[in-house]
Amino acid sequence: MTARLDHRTALVTGAGSGIGRAIADRFVAEGARVVYADRDAVAAGTAAAAAGALALPLTVDIADEASVEAGFAALSAQAWTPDVVVANAGVQLFGHDAAVADLSLETWNRTVAVNLTGTFLTVKHAVRAMLAAGGGGSIIATGSPTGLNGEGADFAAYSSTKGGIHALVRATAMAYARDGIRVNTVVPGYTETGLVQAISGDPEARAAIVARTPLGRPGTPDDVTGIMVYLASAESSYATGAEFRVDGGMTSL
Ligand SMILES: NC(=O)c1ccc[n+]([C@@H]2O[C@H](COP(=O)([O-])OP(=O)(O)OC[C@H]3O[C@@H](n4cnc5c(N)ncnc54)[C@H](O)[C@@H]3O)[C@@H](O)[C@H]2O)c1
Repeated sequence: MTARLDHRTALVTGAGSGIGRAIADRFVAEGARVVYADRDAVAAGTAAAAAGALALPLTVDIADEASVEAGFAALSAQAWTPDVVVANAGVQLFGHDAAVADLSLETWNRTVAVNLTGTFLTVKHAVRAMLAAGGGGSIIATGSPTGLNGEGADFAAYSSTKGGIHALVRATAMAYARDGIRVNTVVPGYTETGLVQAISGDPEARAAIVARTPLGRPGTPDDVTGIMVYLASAESSYATGAEFRVDGGMTSL
């Protein structure tokens, strides 16, 4: 098979584990140079080391603008300016997030800081780097069914941040289309990673969410890597401002 991402440089946030790591590993397998960005330095380092010479670890806290800015500056100083950026890192505060009447301002703020502000900062500095390099680019955000349907009834903070991400993607896609910068969202379904251990470790909750998934099984991180390669490559050159749902049918139920 020909590598589909030869000569591309990609940055993936949250690449230390779960969906982000699967995306980053697949990009490397497709020939891209890939920056494994994560707040967890050990996880980023371990994942990048396992991926080999085309991988570079980067410790970055997406909720902190100085950290994001310094990360992009360090890359550009090493001639690793990304033309593909996947704004994927996120948190879901199980045990704290709730329906609004029971949701604390603290949980709301912590969730917004990482998921929505962190995605904004990642996208902002990705666009700046792409404009400075002058060659356009592809930005992909990880959305969620909770931002599109009623899946997040007990997760008002998480759902709100994901709905915000979907809107941020559309606005950014429209603002920079003429600069050759494409921006899209990928919506995974219920995917068994560390993020959702509270569901995967609870047989009743797990059975319930699988029952709400028409294809009848949980997703794996690899289920979204194909659409990510498509969006990172020139094959998707006419796609922008769109939501690509690879969710086992959950949002069509
Ligand atoms: N797992 C699911 O069912 C599911 C479904 C839909 C969408 N998503 C989304 O997919 C994305 C990845 O989730 P996952 O399931 O792989 O979770 P995960 O917990 O396995 O991975 C998330 C990664 O993000 C990193 N991270 C967290 N906060 C960060 C910060 N402030 N700065 C930098 N890195 C940070 C973590 O260290 C971790 O490595 C998230 O945006 C999540 O909302 C997940």
